[in-house]
Amino acid sequence: MIQAHKLAAFGQLSTGVAHEINNPLAIINEEAGWLDDLLAKDESKDFKYRGEFKESLRIIVQQTHRCGSITGKLLRFAENMDSNIGEVDLNDILDEVVGIMEKDAILNNIVIERDFDPELPKMYSDSAQLRQLALNLVNNALDAVERDGKVLVGTRREGTDWVLLTVKDDGCGIPREHHHSIFEPFFTTKPPGKGAGLGLSICYGIATKLGGVISVDSAPAKGATFTVTLPMASSADTLPTK
Ligand SMILES: Nc1ncnc2c1ncn2[C@@H]1O[C@H](COP(=O)(O)OP(=O)(O)O)[C@@H](O)[C@H]1O
Ligand SMILES: [Mg+2]
Repeated sequence: MIQAHKLAAFGQLSTGVAHEINNPLAIINEEAGWLDDLLAKDESKDFKYRGEFKESLRIIVQQTHRCGSITGKLLRFAENMDSNIGEVDLNDILDEVVGIMEKDAILNNIVIERDFDPELPKMYSDSAQLRQLALNLVNNALDAVERDGKVLVGTRREGTDWVLLTVKDDGCGIPREHHHSIFEPFFTTKPPGKGAGLGLSICYGIATKLGGVISVDSAPAKGATFTVTLPMASSADTLPTK
């Protein structure tokens, strides 16, 4: 899970950096081309260092291409972590996630209950991203409960086109003034080393990318319920980019 957090954060960072670097690179390349054109002019014929200038420009252009191939690799890396849409059984995915988490939970006397819609049809979505989404939500729920409590993971069909995924806990709850900030990257109320504040921003990103929404219902000491509304069919080409 830590690795998945790091990867997602790295993906966002590398896409941002690659785009930022590509623009000045393109300008450097243009300007070098312009200097090369100037050197080719008749007026530059007698210029003493013409040969050396030309050679220098060749190297500048060559090295900008090299940088371009590095930023290209970074962008492709981030793309690979992008959507991979196929037929998925959300109940199966959640069952697996709960299975992974409940061993830890039981040590703290926390019960994770499954409340899956038995009629839920297969969805057209991204299983890896859904797994990541659910892991982050259950992980937060366990942190919030700390000890002796209950977490409920549920699915429900909503009309013909939507599925609700809920993760409900009876933990510490979230004060109203935090309801927006919790989805921001790096917002955390946990001590250093415990929380990086990336979980919910990743969940938000995934929900949005799949064409859904994530919302929270919570009050201090009342526990928290996270609801992700997902389309039955996410299609790669109708998805918002980044
Ligand atoms: N189920 C929950 N109950 C109470 N607070 C929560 C819950 N889920 C998230 N939060 C709050 O939202 C913050 C951000 O969560 P997240 O983005 O996953 O980062 P992290 O878990 O690393 O702190 C948490 O630090 C916590 O304050
Ligand atoms: Mg978290």
